[in-house]
Amino acid sequence: MTNPLTLNQSHISTSKLEELFGARVKTIHQEMNKGTTEGADYLGWKDLPNEVPSNELAEVLNVAKKLREKAELVVVIGIGGSYLGARAIQDALSPYFEKNSDNPEVIFAGQNLSGAYMKQLVSYMGSKEVAVIVISKSGTTTEPAIAFRILLEFMENRYGSSASERIVAITDKSQGALRELAVRSGFATFVVPDDIGGRYSVLTPVGLLPLAVAGVDIEQLLAGAKAAVHDLSSEDISSNTAYQYAALRNHLLSEGYNVEILASFSPNLATFHEWWKQLFGESEGKDGKGIFPAAVAYPTDLHSLGQYVQDGQRILFETFIHFTEAAEDNAIPTSADNLDGLNYLADKTLNEINEVMMHGAMEAHIEGGVPVLRIDVAKQDEYNLGYLIYFFELSCAMSAYLQGLNPFDQPGVEDYKNITFRLLEKPGHVTAGQ
Ligand code: PA5
Repeated sequence: MTNPLTLNQSHISTSKLEELFGARVKTIHQEMNKGTTEGADYLGWKDLPNEVPSNELAEVLNVAKKLREKAELVVVIGIGGSYLGARAIQDALSPYFEKNSDNPEVIFAGQNLSGAYMKQLVSYMGSKEVAVIVISKSGTTTEPAIAFRILLEFMENRYGSSASERIVAITDKSQGALRELAVRSGFATFVVPDDIGGRYSVLTPVGLLPLAVAGVDIEQLLAGAKAAVHDLSSEDISSNTAYQYAALRNHLLSEGYNVEILASFSPNLATFHEWWKQLFGESEGKDGKGIFPAAVAYPTDLHSLGQYVQDGQRILFETFIHFTEAAEDNAIPTSADNLDGLNYLADKTLNEINEVMMHGAMEAHIEGGVPVLRIDVAKQDEYNLGYLIYFFELSCAMSAYLQGLNPFDQPGVEDYKNITFRLLEKPGHVTAGQ
C-alpha cells in the first residue's frame, strides 16, 4: 500500500535537509529505540498502536457499549491531553448539523472553570439519561476535579446508589485522588499507562473510550496509527516523512521562523488544530526555546489573520493539512440572470473552489515570504486521522529532541498552579522558596 501521507514543500531540497539533519536524526532515532534519550520513560506511545492488548480493546468496546445503552448524553471530564485528542477526532468525524441519533451526544467539561458553563451543563443534563467519563492521569488536576465533584453530586442525586454504574474513571493505575475515589465508589476504571504522558495519550483509553462511545470506529483509528508506525520506522530521513517534517521545522527555526501556523480548509478540523497546538506547544516550549504553534481555519481566517500572514513580521511559516479525497460536495447552480456574476463558477463544486483557494493562499503566502509546507492525506476518516496522529507524535518527539529538549515534560505548567494554590490558600500548600 502506498504511504497515505505525503509532505510537500519547496523551501529546501531533501538532499540538503539530509546533509543538515540526517546524522542527528539517525542518532536520536537509535537512542529513542534504545530508550536512552531524555524522558525515555515516556516513550510508551511509540509502539503503542502495535501493542494495544486485545483484552483492553475489547473492554473499552464493552464499556462503551454499556454507556451507549444507558445514556443519551455522556459528559467527558478532562483537560489538556486528557480531553483534546478525543474531542479533536470526534469533531473531525461528526456531521456538522444533523447528529446521528444512534449515537449518544458526547460533550466535554472540566477544561474550563466558567460558572455559567457548569450551571448550563447541569441544567442541560436535566432529566436526560446521562453517564460520565472522568479522565485525569494524575488524578489531582484542579479543573477536572472540581467539575467531577459537581457532576458526581448530580449523578448521586439523580441515580442514587446506581450512579456508579454510569461513571467510568480513567487514571493512574494506583496513585491519585481519582483512583482512590473510583475504587471506593466502585466505578469501572481504565489505566493511563505510566509511560505515556497526557498529550500522547489519545490512542490509550483516554481517547479510545470517549470516541467509541461517540460511535467512532476506534479499530480503524488504531489501524491507521499502526500503518504509520510501520511506514515511519526508518532512521533514514530521506524515507521518513515524520523526520523530514521535524527537520524542516528545525531548519526554518534556525532561519528565524519561530511561529508555525497550522492551516486547513476543513472547518471541523479546528479542534484537531487545538490538539496539535498542545502537542507541540507543551513538548517544545521550554528552556527559552521552541516554535510557537498557532492555527488558522481558512478561508475564514484569510479575512482576518490572513493579513498578518501575508504582510506582517516575517517570523511565520505555514503547514497546510490537505485531505485529497472529499467525502461530500455541493455544486454551484447556474443563475438565469447572473446578477451576482458567479456563473463563471457554475460548472464547479464548492470543494473544487476550496481547493483552488488553498493553492491561491499558498502561492500568495510564498510570494509574501512565508515558507509553506503541505501535508496531503487521503480522507478525513478514522484510518487517516489515526495515521496523522502518529505522524505528528513522532515528528514532535524528533523535533523537540533536535532542539535539545525533553519532549515529555511540562515544567512550566506548574507555575500557574502554585501561584493559584497560594491565592486560593490551599491547605498545606507551600510557596516555592518558603
Ligand atoms: O500533556 C499533558 O501531560 C497535560 O496536558 C495533561 O494532560 C493535563 O495537564 C491534564 O493532566 P491530568 O490528566 O493529570 O489531569
